[in-house]
Amino acid sequence: MFKDKVVIVTGAAGANAGGSGRITAYKFVEQGAKVVLVDINDQVGKAVEEDMLSKGFDAMFVHCDLSQEEDIKNVISETINKYGKLDILVNSAYFSIQEGNVADIATNDLDRIFAINARGHFLFCKYAIPELIKQEHSAIVNLSSISAITGELGYAAYGAAKSAVLSLTRSVATQYGRCGLRCNTVIPGLILSDEMLNAIIQQMPEMKANFDMLDKHILLNRHGNGNDVANAILFFASDNASYITGQTLVVDGGITKHNPTWADQMGL
Ligand SMILES: NC(=O)c1ccc[n+]([C@@H]2O[C@H](COP(=O)([O-])OP(=O)(O)OC[C@H]3O[C@@H](n4cnc5c(N)ncnc54)[C@H](O)[C@@H]3O)[C@@H](O)[C@H]2O)c1
Repeated sequence: MFKDKVVIVTGAAGANAGGSGRITAYKFVEQGAKVVLVDINDQVGKAVEEDMLSKGFDAMFVHCDLSQEEDIKNVISETINKYGKLDILVNSAYFSIQEGNVADIATNDLDRIFAINARGHFLFCKYAIPELIKQEHSAIVNLSSISAITGELGYAAYGAAKSAVLSLTRSVATQYGRCGLRCNTVIPGLILSDEMLNAIIQQMPEMKANFDMLDKHILLNRHGNGNDVANAILFFASDNASYITGQTLVVDGGITKHNPTWADQMGL
């Protein structure tokens, strides 16, 4: 499906909760793409690159801190130097911390959350678009979060930054559709491997009750995994979505469609 397409995947070390960036990068190379692996985590990013090369795939790791404009420019120029073009950008890297409530967040934390999750995605689009529109057909897939479409306990800045991503997607779609560039957003829900869940609960046993409560609202009875998110990303990036732009796809097992009022009434 992606033979000879050149793809940038940010957050490709997949070293946070879900591993969506790494799984996405593997799916692209397995389908013939040349993938530029972008992450702040050099150790894991290089290990992913080495593993891909040892399997005969075409991939290159480039260090990038999304809060640094020069790093972002460098990723685009390294991509063009090595592969000569760019077809697809996946903006998956993210940064999040326990923020507390809106009145409590440290301004430094607020700035870093916006620098990576909103400004970083925006700048990646800014510097990638001139290369993407040189191709007849190209695509950007941005990653938002259900935090952008619901209220959040403890993650208001992250949710606000992820809302900016939704708006950015619509504007890119509007401005560059006529250049053959499609831009869409994937909105993951609770994406968490069992391994990561167990590690969190071991570190913070008080979180178990929180997860148990959340689980009750997932209509499809399980947490999502990086594979669920990667499948949605590859769909938007592929020709199967060739008439789709400016859209969002929510991959959340139905948690944002669970209406607690009806559920209580029906004893669910
Ligand atoms: N995991 C979830 O439950 C969840 C829920 C909603 C939305 N999302 C979104 O889905 C996407 C993928 O999430 P995931 O949990 O699968 O992540 P992931 O496991 O794919 O890892 C994200 C990567 O971002 C990298 N990163 C962090 N700060 C960076 C920086 N300053 N510059 C460059 N890279 C940086 C990390 O090193 C990590 O490898 C993210 O955009 C996230 O906001 C995830």
